[in-house]
Amino acid sequence: MLEIDNLHQYYGSSHILRGVNWSVPQGSLSTLMGRNGVGKTTLMQCLMGVQPAAQGRIVLDGQDITRLSPAERVRAGMAYVPQGREIFPRLSVHENLLMGAASRRAPKGIPDYIHSLFPVLRDMAQRMGGDLSGGQQQQLAIARALMSQPRLLILDEPTEGIQPNVIDQIGDALQWLQREQGLTIVLVEQYLDFVRRIADRYAVMRRGAIVAQGDREALAAADLTALVSV
Ligand SMILES: Nc1ncnc2c1ncn2[C@@H]1O[C@H](COP(=O)(O)OP(=O)(O)O)[C@@H](O)[C@H]1O
Ligand SMILES: [Mg+2]
Repeated sequence: MLEIDNLHQYYGSSHILRGVNWSVPQGSLSTLMGRNGVGKTTLMQCLMGVQPAAQGRIVLDGQDITRLSPAERVRAGMAYVPQGREIFPRLSVHENLLMGAASRRAPKGIPDYIHSLFPVLRDMAQRMGGDLSGGQQQQLAIARALMSQPRLLILDEPTEGIQPNVIDQIGDALQWLQREQGLTIVLVEQYLDFVRRIADRYAVMRRGAIVAQGDREALAAADLTALVSV
């Protein structure tokens, strides 16, 4: 579904992405792992168009999207849950969700399945986003991304700093979205147990390139600790 071909990116003279090649199959839950600072977030920002790619190609369902704006990519079916969540602290939970629908023809209200996945968002609909716990904010960020009715959902370290019971809920939600809604999911994640529980493909990034990848069996067998830990 998503093909990344020889992608390069720089911050000033620092060469961050050094020829990333990666394919994400339709309907998969594909994880990207790697130590802090190797370029995972930069890659996600290039995928979403938040940063332009210096060189290389990104293809979604056969369409070259490398030069599209973030809004055009959302219309093409992509949604993004950034690292650190970036919800709107001074808008209510309900308003945060509506912001997620602003870039597309908005659904009428909040789809029921979003409240089934994350019941806390209904209970707290009128609370300010900034008053929620970290785990609740992460659920809100995922729900906000779902409001654009994506086919491809990109999440950057959604378990970072989140308590274990909420991590389990997020894992269940991602599996349900993949299996029942047919979403393709790209998950940047350093929490290996979580990855092993839900992912069916993995890739490891090191110094701006993918250096290892494989399927679910390879993921269970591989010794990834050294490639992943901070
Ligand atoms: N806005 C920026 N300006 C300059 N350097 C940056 C910026 N953002 C990230 N970097 C650097 O680029 C490298 C990759 O960062 P990042 O993509 O955030 O890595 P990861 O998500 O894998 O931790 C790091 O060395 C980081 O310090
Ligand atoms: Mg990052």
